[in-house]
Amino acid sequence: MNFSRLGFALAKPFLHQLDAEQAHKFTIAALKTGLGGRDSAANYPSLQSQLFGLTFPNPVGLAPGFDKNAEVPDAMLAQGFGFVEMGTVTPRPQAGNAKPRLFRLADDQAVINRMGFNNDGCDVVFKRLEARRKHGGIVGVNIGANKDSEDRIADYVLGLQKFASVASYITVNISSPNTPGLRNLQARDDLQRLLDQLNAKRPAHLPMLLKIAPDLSVDELQDVAECCAGGAVSAVIISNTTISRPPLKSIEAKETGGLSGKPLFELSTQQLSLFYQMTGGAIPVIGAGGVADAETAWAKIIAGASLVQLYSALVYKGPALVAEICAGLSQKLVQHNFLRLQDAVGYQNTKSGK
Ligand SMILES: Cc1cc2nc3c(=O)[nH]c(=O)nc-3n(C[C@H](O)[C@H](O)[C@H](O)COP(=O)(O)O)c2cc1C
Repeated sequence: MNFSRLGFALAKPFLHQLDAEQAHKFTIAALKTGLGGRDSAANYPSLQSQLFGLTFPNPVGLAPGFDKNAEVPDAMLAQGFGFVEMGTVTPRPQAGNAKPRLFRLADDQAVINRMGFNNDGCDVVFKRLEARRKHGGIVGVNIGANKDSEDRIADYVLGLQKFASVASYITVNISSPNTPGLRNLQARDDLQRLLDQLNAKRPAHLPMLLKIAPDLSVDELQDVAECCAGGAVSAVIISNTTISRPPLKSIEAKETGGLSGKPLFELSTQQLSLFYQMTGGAIPVIGAGGVADAETAWAKIIAGASLVQLYSALVYKGPALVAEICAGLSQKLVQHNFLRLQDAVGYQNTKSGK
């Protein structure tokens, strides 16, 4: 059975009857047995890009949080994703917050989570990634700090060094709303100290990305942009989930945690566009937040994203979405007279437009 097309259509009513975390657990277990199959995500040379030393076959990535423990990176690459990001992984294993902590907001095509970095810890995840290293594909690792850590910067340095040999890139996640105080690392002085210490230990070959929240003020975003300039990071991921609550229909809207999916699209795309304008496009950006079809992926790209990532839309549409987005983006390029996707990046923000 191919989980990505017929399989998802058949499985969805069953999965959506389960509690959201149970459904996720079931999905990972099914993918581990090979039920995911392989989607013929077509090969579009126009969608390929070279960024920070890596060749991305297409710009659609799996956002972290889906495969926190690197159990199914190859099954997800086989769904057609151009790259997959594992994690968040912390140095020591962690149980995360009390359940329930994951909620579907079906009427809003959204998700709220307050998982709290539940993960197997870096030793176990490292072994899984080491075992699949020769399979290739772009597999990033998103690193975080333990909730009870006494030195959070040391946790990030440890994660970076631990995964340097098995990750295509490392993402420094300082934007989860579910670890109290973590997002304070986005403040100018703390961020500067964090990036300095990471860069002192970062192997020259290893791309290092920074993932930020969509809830930063303009001044805070400007501070982040200044700290990231001059090669301090290879790219910035905008954004993580939001603690804000745009108008929502579902009763689960009252749940504490980070909101993702459709209602995050506008806020995260505005932040991305602003960041692109502040930096003049000098720092590559990966756009995440409400990517659910070719239209939303294209909107991120023309606002300044070189790549996109998605998670929540998988819950509602299944992995066939990836091939659909790639097909749609390739059509967009033709419609707008662009030869390559990278030529379209940020064009909405350029004076002349196209
Ligand atoms: C259940 C869930 C768990 C997540 N866990 C993580 C995580 O561990 N680390 C992280 O950087 N982002 C995490 N995210 C955020 C996503 O990677 C992504 O940035 C966000 O959901 C916006 O994309 P989307 O609207 O396509 O879901 C999580 C999101 C969800 C829905």
